Amino acid sequence: VPTRSVEAKVASALDPSQMPVPFRAQFLRTPVLAPYATGYDPEDEMKINYYSITQSVGNASMLPNRNLLTPILGYNGTFPGPTLKMDRWTKSVVRVRNQLPATHPTMGHNLYTSTHLHGSASLPQFDGYASDIAMPGFYKDYKYPNNQHARTLWYHDHAVHYTAPNVYSGLAGQYHVHDPLERQLLPQGQFDVALTLSDAMFAADGSLGYDDDSHSGLWGDVIMANGRPWPVMQVQRRIYRFRILNASISRSFRPYLSTGDPVTVVATDGGLMPYAQSVYEWRHGSAERYEVLIDFRHYQPGQRVELRNLSNKNNVDYDFTHKMMAFDVTDEPVDTSDPTWNTIPVELNPSNEVMTLKESDATKFRSFRLKRDDITNLWSIDDMNWAEVIASNYRKVIADPELDAVEIWEFDNRSGGWFHPVHIHLLDFKIIGGEDRADFSYEQGPKDVVYCGEGEKVRLLMKFGPHRGRYMIHCHNLPHEDHDMMVQFSVGMAPEDFELDVNDPINA
Ligand code: C2O
Ligand code: CU
Repeated sequence: VPTRSVEAKVASALDPSQMPVPFRAQFLRTPVLAPYATGYDPEDEMKINYYSITQSVGNASMLPNRNLLTPILGYNGTFPGPTLKMDRWTKSVVRVRNQLPATHPTMGHNLYTSTHLHGSASLPQFDGYASDIAMPGFYKDYKYPNNQHARTLWYHDHAVHYTAPNVYSGLAGQYHVHDPLERQLLPQGQFDVALTLSDAMFAADGSLGYDDDSHSGLWGDVIMANGRPWPVMQVQRRIYRFRILNASISRSFRPYLSTGDPVTVVATDGGLMPYAQSVYEWRHGSAERYEVLIDFRHYQPGQRVELRNLSNKNNVDYDFTHKMMAFDVTDEPVDTSDPTWNTIPVELNPSNEVMTLKESDATKFRSFRLKRDDITNLWSIDDMNWAEVIASNYRKVIADPELDAVEIWEFDNRSGGWFHPVHIHLLDFKIIGGEDRADFSYEQGPKDVVYCGEGEKVRLLMKFGPHRGRYMIHCHNLPHEDHDMMVQFSVGMAPEDFELDVNDPINA
């Protein structure tokens, strides 16, 4: 089964002496953003948290050994953006201010943005619809219900045709929803670690280089965790939870531990799996989230454990992409009054609504081919792309399920040599099998991205709701999405009822 990512064809233009050295940088935890106000919605009897985030240019320390600062675009000027932490059943209103310059400082495109909370069942006007943009100088309020199971979501830019360069430049952050079951089962606080992985290549002046090889993808030669190259984190001799997000715009990873020990996967994109799964490695495509427990109890103080990436053969002279980050085990005393310090749960959430759906509940089967046009180089889903959706005045849909319908969708990637992490907005799905594709135990949880590998066919079972509206489906290899591997489906409504029902941006 092919599970590997294509490797870098282009390397950083930095002098080798300026390249970061693995395991020198300190791992940084991403700050948690506090709400600036709280309120109450009497109609829904729910609390509301209000947040404010400003998209702005920042300077990041991605090349710490040379003190070269890297200009980025960031939520509050940082990459990753601040983490937002919610309780389930508390609403949030996130005001995103676009304070970016009119055009990208090195890439030149217009910096209109659209913010998508990836993993949320949002109403259409808050979904980060790619063509629902805010220009520099404007803000938009995004309203999220947070009524789903505890999970790791992430917010990122989704601007039509510029998602790849904007996310690559730094517009991405994590967003966590907590609930009582997850709080009881899994480590919290400092042992619940947001871990955003990405890759980058650098220009000679330390700025980010960009080369997506004619929209095939960008494979940077520097691997970053929370925005730092190959960092080291100090850990106690206990069990930690890592919320691993692959925020690379193209690269997939196959993480494993240098000790040969397994990790325990406890949650997928949509939250807790029915049962925990012990795995030695997993393939992790762009935008997928896996929450894993790593057990540091049996390592010696002073021992270093590396998180590695089973990458393809190296084809650049300087290639450390088989390394990701390292953990240095300390002798710091462990608080054994916290039961999660030594508990690896077995049963998590067997009654998850998506995971208990039955194939026999499905009333429709649809199959979609993933393809690239040899002449235009454009990517498509079942011969449709986003340019056609725009040309139809946003009325063209690839599927039109009824509200609450259960369907099986198949993605067929047997026409080309690329892998595609396919993302469906609005809902969680269950992977129910495929052809020329292994059954991966770590995928046995609710998902919103499916890794459709080279030559694979995969089937998904899902229920269309909870909202009517129109939602996007796209490849999360973002240069593919931008050119133009994105389409939409409607839920419970006819195309003639579509309005570009946007939450009009407000002049800030
Ligand atoms: Cu992670 Cu449509 O996005
Ligand atoms: Cu793709």
